[in-house]
Amino acid sequence: MSVSFGIRDFIESLRQNGELLTLSTPLAPRFEISTILSELGKKEAPAILFEKAKGYKFPVIGNLLGTKKRLSMALKVDQENFFENALSKLQGRIPPVLVEDPSPKNVVTQKGKIDLLKFLPILTHYAKDSGPYITSGITSAIDLKDGSIGRGLHRMEVRGKNELGISLINPPLSEIYAQYKKENRRMEVATVIGVDPSILIASISKIPRGVDKLSVAGGLKGKPIQMVKAATVDIDIPAQTEIVIEGYIDPKGKEKDGTLGESSGYYMTFSKSPMIHVTAITYKKAAHFHAIVPWGLEVDNLLCLIHGIDFVPKMKKEISSLKKIHFIPGTFGSHVVMSIDTENKGEIRRALTFALSFTNIKKAIVVDEEVDPEDYREVEWALATRFQGDRNLIILPDLRGQPIDPSSKEGFLTTKIGMDATRPKKEGFGKVEVPLEVKKRLAPFLGKLKREEKK
Ligand SMILES: Cc1cc2nc3c(=O)[nH]c(=O)nc-3n(C[C@H](O)[C@H](O)[C@H](O)COP(=O)(O)O)c2cc1C
Repeated sequence: MSVSFGIRDFIESLRQNGELLTLSTPLAPRFEISTILSELGKKEAPAILFEKAKGYKFPVIGNLLGTKKRLSMALKVDQENFFENALSKLQGRIPPVLVEDPSPKNVVTQKGKIDLLKFLPILTHYAKDSGPYITSGITSAIDLKDGSIGRGLHRMEVRGKNELGISLINPPLSEIYAQYKKENRRMEVATVIGVDPSILIASISKIPRGVDKLSVAGGLKGKPIQMVKAATVDIDIPAQTEIVIEGYIDPKGKEKDGTLGESSGYYMTFSKSPMIHVTAITYKKAAHFHAIVPWGLEVDNLLCLIHGIDFVPKMKKEISSLKKIHFIPGTFGSHVVMSIDTENKGEIRRALTFALSFTNIKKAIVVDEEVDPEDYREVEWALATRFQGDRNLIILPDLRGQPIDPSSKEGFLTTKIGMDATRPKKEGFGKVEVPLEVKKRLAPFLGKLKREEKK
């Protein structure tokens, strides 16, 4: 049986689990809400419900997946072996089902009445952004090749009352758009904002072309996702959606640049982003506008998830002595620390060079198993005491890196570095330790002290 679920159910479960902060003071979508979200989003923080955006009827929800815990809740996986578990969940497929719209929505289709900024509290995030941007919209379009529906998370710049620029860099939508351009046909699109996080996560996952990402979301939920027909375009979209924006891209239309503070923390300009002419805005009563601030732990989490589910299982399969793998927060999946259980220096160098061959990885560090990759003090201690730049450093120039790294050369070429911070030899590199027997004996006493310290 199909069941309908949406972002409000997830918000409610966050509330019940103490993972939600509610703010009743109305704040402006221009800079104010993004300031709160970006300042709180620098560290692990709860999701934030802004009950009212100043000048709007709608609430804004942000920092929804800002911690690993909430990402695990959305994926319904344990934090232990997170990437392997997430990958196996993302490989499940339950096809969506088409239903009559179960939740009534207001629909605005009249040309003169469509005014994006009048209806929606779309945020302007950073001081030098070219304007308000929708950063949580999942856009769908029909693939001309086989009639399947391609979906992805693509930033959209408000360019007029009924005009939106859309950044179409990644497949499937970039390739679908190329087909329409080639055939000189209008490309209909429908963008949903405010959906169950399983749909958001599915929409950014790398899956074979032709597979509907809603079947991946269904796999995550263990139940089919309900779909409805959009109001003015012939595209099926998730039923439980707070807001829908529909329209078309004219293949001969203007393609211009907009500026947005990006996931790497820099202003970037997307070249040639086409324009959507909006034909309908549909919204639920008290629709929750979902905000994703482009630079913060939330986006870092999402990017690490997407890179990690590819990287971690492949690394562990190839290098069986690898133990823990940890992406350094704030580096959008480009810096990784791995612990290894081998003294074979050749194997360690192989682990480093293999890691650096992944597009997303710019820096890889290998430490011994006794060092916790998640504890940056221990990692830096290993580098400070076990690593020598002339012997243990691998430098690989001009490999393809992440496009959002502004220091990369043309073609996104970057220099990659691998650091072997494992013990150079067994002797002389034993960590100091208090006697184990005493540590064991004092464990209950120590535990009590730690608990008191926490209070
Ligand atoms: C936070 C975030 C923002 C994204 N923004 C864009 C974007 O603005 N434009 C774009 O083309 N892709 C963007 N993507 C990537 C696509 O949504 C997504 O990776 C793609 O659809 C995955 O499918 P693929 O592997 O077939 O490319 C973004 C991904 C994330 C995680």
